[in-house]
Amino acid sequence: MKKNFYSHIMPTYGERNLEFAAGKGCYLYTPSGKKYLDFAGGIAVNSLGHCHPKLVNVLKKQSETLWHTSNLYRNNTQEIFAKELCKKTFADKVFFTNSGAEAIECGLKVVKSFWNLKNKNKKNIITFKGAFHGRTFAALSAQKNKKYSEGFGPLLGGFKNIPFNDEKALIKNINNETAAILIEPIQGEGGIRPASLQFLKYIRELCNKKNILLFLDEVQSGFGRSGKLYSYEWAQIKPDILATAKGIGSGFPLGACLATNDASKGMVQGKHGSTYGGNPLAVSVGREVLKIISSKKFLKNVDLISRYLWKNLKKLEETYEEIIEVRGAGLLLGIKTKKNNVMISNLLRKHNLLSVPAGDNVIRLAPPLIIKKKHVDEAIKILNETFKKIK
Ligand SMILES: Cc1ncc(COP(=O)(O)O)c(C=O)c1O
Repeated sequence: MKKNFYSHIMPTYGERNLEFAAGKGCYLYTPSGKKYLDFAGGIAVNSLGHCHPKLVNVLKKQSETLWHTSNLYRNNTQEIFAKELCKKTFADKVFFTNSGAEAIECGLKVVKSFWNLKNKNKKNIITFKGAFHGRTFAALSAQKNKKYSEGFGPLLGGFKNIPFNDEKALIKNINNETAAILIEPIQGEGGIRPASLQFLKYIRELCNKKNILLFLDEVQSGFGRSGKLYSYEWAQIKPDILATAKGIGSGFPLGACLATNDASKGMVQGKHGSTYGGNPLAVSVGREVLKIISSKKFLKNVDLISRYLWKNLKKLEETYEEIIEVRGAGLLLGIKTKKNNVMISNLLRKHNLLSVPAGDNVIRLAPPLIIKKKHVDEAIKILNETFKKIK
């Protein structure tokens, strides 16, 4: 970067001194051609890597046909994509968005409109410590994390933030006013902390018993990242509402709120809208991503390669005292370190491996779901070399 460079971009992301000019498969290239192995995946976004030829093709084709029509008109590709998503999940209805936070917002409106329709005074939504649901006011209010919400008060009421993976705390905080439970099956920003399958099952049972809606945030953990299309499948449960984004577009801005017929009863005409949500470009890419990722063979490969990565990371955990713990699921993995995670992530970057710091001093690995053994071996070699140097 040039000295005395003045940026006209609001400095919310801090100083950014690494730039990429191109991407192919699991690699990114700087303007001068330096190659990086991308185990950050655009923060769990580039599910099919960079410039996947099939995605480039559908996007090219769609861009030559129709870009945008607004949601005032019927959009057949949107209809087909919604049907395909419902067929492969618990859902009956879909609302398309452009991002994860918008999918969360929509889900919260699904909850509110459902109880409003039933005329029930259920006004509280349970959320969990360490959660991250986005940067909108509702998301900031839901996660109650000062790191993101400091200085933005007053936030919205109606959220109860309780300890994660704690059945006793949950039962203690539930009452007749509980409208929904909102949970990430694997906390991403919070430090790659999976909810135990037992906890997820317990929540589902509790929701059934106490007449509460279960709202899953699978923005980061979904779309094949866990080795299943959605990670709730590992717990053999079904939510009532689900927010999805990131991997669904593999880099094209797209998100969706999925819900059952019953849960989405209140979302009638005029209750919600989006200018761009589900536009033809995004939906054409999403359909292709779903087609590729939801195949049994693809998901089996994600499961196999993630187990190979896990086994090798666990070896590092045994070898280096610096590593406190390796955790996570599928290809959403975290290395909790003693020394500062940002410092170590920067060291890895110097060795041409991209990772993303997460909460709880964790180095997050969220590579494209198309990685092969050779990519894992390359990453492990760099991790080994880096940890060897950390005293
Ligand atoms: C679990 C979770 N929910 C919601 C969001 C917000 O998504 P977006 O940044 O697309 O608004 C994120 C983003 O990191 C996330 O990880």
